[in-house]
Amino acid sequence: MRVPMRLRATGLPVWVISGATVVVLIAGATIVVALLSGAASTTLGSTGATHSYLTGPAADLGAGLRHLGRVNGLSIGTAAQPAGMAESAEYRAVLAREFDSVTAENQLKWDIVEPVRGRYDWTSADALVGFAGANGQSVRGHTLVWHDALPGWLATGRFSPEQLRDLLREHIQAVVGRYKGRVAVWDVINEPVADTGGKLRRSLWMNALGPGYIADALRWAHEADPGAMLYINDYWAEGVNEKSDALYNVVAGLRRDGVPLHGVGFQSHLTLDTDLTTLDANLRRFADLGLDVAITEMDVRLPLPVTTTHQAAQAGAYTGVLQVCLAVPRCVSYTVWGFTDRYSWVPQAWPGYGDACLFDADYRPKAAYRQLRQFLVESPRR
Ligand code: XIL
Repeated sequence: MRVPMRLRATGLPVWVISGATVVVLIAGATIVVALLSGAASTTLGSTGATHSYLTGPAADLGAGLRHLGRVNGLSIGTAAQPAGMAESAEYRAVLAREFDSVTAENQLKWDIVEPVRGRYDWTSADALVGFAGANGQSVRGHTLVWHDALPGWLATGRFSPEQLRDLLREHIQAVVGRYKGRVAVWDVINEPVADTGGKLRRSLWMNALGPGYIADALRWAHEADPGAMLYINDYWAEGVNEKSDALYNVVAGLRRDGVPLHGVGFQSHLTLDTDLTTLDANLRRFADLGLDVAITEMDVRLPLPVTTTHQAAQAGAYTGVLQVCLAVPRCVSYTVWGFTDRYSWVPQAWPGYGDACLFDADYRPKAAYRQLRQFLVESPRR
């Protein structure tokens, strides 16, 4: 059955097709916001009065998204930036109020923790872990094995495969060991799959050690902190596609081999054109391998200059992904990649784009924030 509805918070037309697909049509561009279960989509269609920020029923449940997430059995997180934490009381206040979990945006990357061989600098990672502890937040450690953010001494060091293997093991033992019991989740492996071709990415690690580097790294991390949840994290693997098929095969193999792996992270750096019709099916197939799944780096970048129409569509995308996560029982967390445009990575990484976060550069909540909040209040997880 085809039920035309209107997503009231955005004012955009929405259709539920066979109780399954919500489509937002905007300015000629089709944005497929999410694949929904029938039950969840009914709730979306019945959204009532708009809640203003921190008023209405949501206020009864606590001040921030984190409380609404908890009610729904979902950890709501954000990446955090050292600059924001150091220089802005407002940044710290929103970070503490709204988020249940914090991800080290850069603080735990190799080039930050060991810029000079053998000389570790834990300053900004300690600050993040300390902040989280003081505010009852869990920490996502990001990331141990990546092709990027390698210090120069490592990237250009001309090490033998044996030396690289030793360096990787020592790195994992040092970083995970330091934060044992204080970092709940590690993105042990980041972005292992190539963008095209359905293969593992060529990287320092892959080239020297072969595909076995993934299982080795997971085992070393598990040894260093047996209580931590260990993830593989990647981008453009949100829907069912060539890249997520490749990721799936890697993960299924690790499961078959009994390698300690507990979850898969889907970064979700989205644009308004991202097709998410198969997000639900994709998360479920990974979950069916006996793993947790998580949205780990959500943002929705908009072409500049921004329009209210685009912001409304952005709200639909943020909410659509949340809705799918809530519908998949093993989707345990929903993390945004920064919460304020003041410190977003987007304008630098994607010239011509911006406005990607839930709060603007002056910490004013946007439609996306309000709609997420409203959705969490009105659509409790089944
Ligand atoms: C980005 C940070 O946000 C930037 O500050 C930094 O300059 C580059 O890295 N996928 C990831 C993240 O896994 O580590 C990246 O973070 C964004 C893309």
